[in-house]
Amino acid sequence: MSGKIVILTGAGLSAESGLGTFRDEGGLWAQHRIEDVATPKGFARDPRLVHAFYNARRQQAAEATPNAAHDALARLQQRWPDEVILVTQNVDGLHEKAGATAIHMHGILTGALCAACDHRWPAPSEMTPQDMCPHCHAPAARPDIVWFGEIPYHMEAIDKHLQDCAIFAAIGTSGQVYPAAGFVAEAAQSGAETVELNLDRTEISRAFDSHHIGPATDIVPRWVDSLLTGGARRLPFV
Ligand code: APR
Repeated sequence: MSGKIVILTGAGLSAESGLGTFRDEGGLWAQHRIEDVATPKGFARDPRLVHAFYNARRQQAAEATPNAAHDALARLQQRWPDEVILVTQNVDGLHEKAGATAIHMHGILTGALCAACDHRWPAPSEMTPQDMCPHCHAPAARPDIVWFGEIPYHMEAIDKHLQDCAIFAAIGTSGQVYPAAGFVAEAAQSGAETVELNLDRTEISRAFDSHHIGPATDIVPRWVDSLLTGGARRLPFV
């Protein structure tokens, strides 16, 4: 085992930046049907509705600013750039705004993807069903977001990091969507210490060695500080 710290982040990390989560009370999936706005079939049926959903989220994300939890994670990564691996399910780009680099396993709102030829380019703020792919010219532009039924991005790289990690943390994610929900088991199998940071307990809390319960802006900076000071001495690379 080497000494990576792999940190999986979810919608709860950005909640205090004003971006709604999916499954909390009044969350996005209480307001929209997943089948309509987050599946390839839904997009084929009504691309205008799907673009409207992501155009609104793109605008919200553009206006949002990182919170103290994003900032703390960026600070941790700046201290050990090769060892701190951020894997995010979030598509809001707030890790990057905070100065960190993250693996975007569910895509990103600022990206456009051609459904016909897989070409990628920066998304305009408003996408429409008429938008043409700049490469193959098909009117098949879609948000570069991984929908239900699609395979998340960068899984091979993520698996390698999980096999190589000393600490695995999951922050602000409900543990209801796979494969991300299975990362804790993979990391534990590699001998990693596992920790969950969340506002509440989740359906997969029992899989973690320890828990920090509270709002991300409170518990994440404190956890990061403990790694940066005394607690980090147990890491192999320190
Ligand atoms: N601080 C910490 N955790 C919080 C906060 C907060 N301020 N607010 C909410 N949470 C926690 C909730 O307790 C919940 O466990 O964040 C979690 C959010 O869960 P979900 O809404 O299910 O979001 P997430 O786990 O990121 O969803 C995974 O599902 O629909 C898809 O593709 C979408 O990437 C998303 C995936």
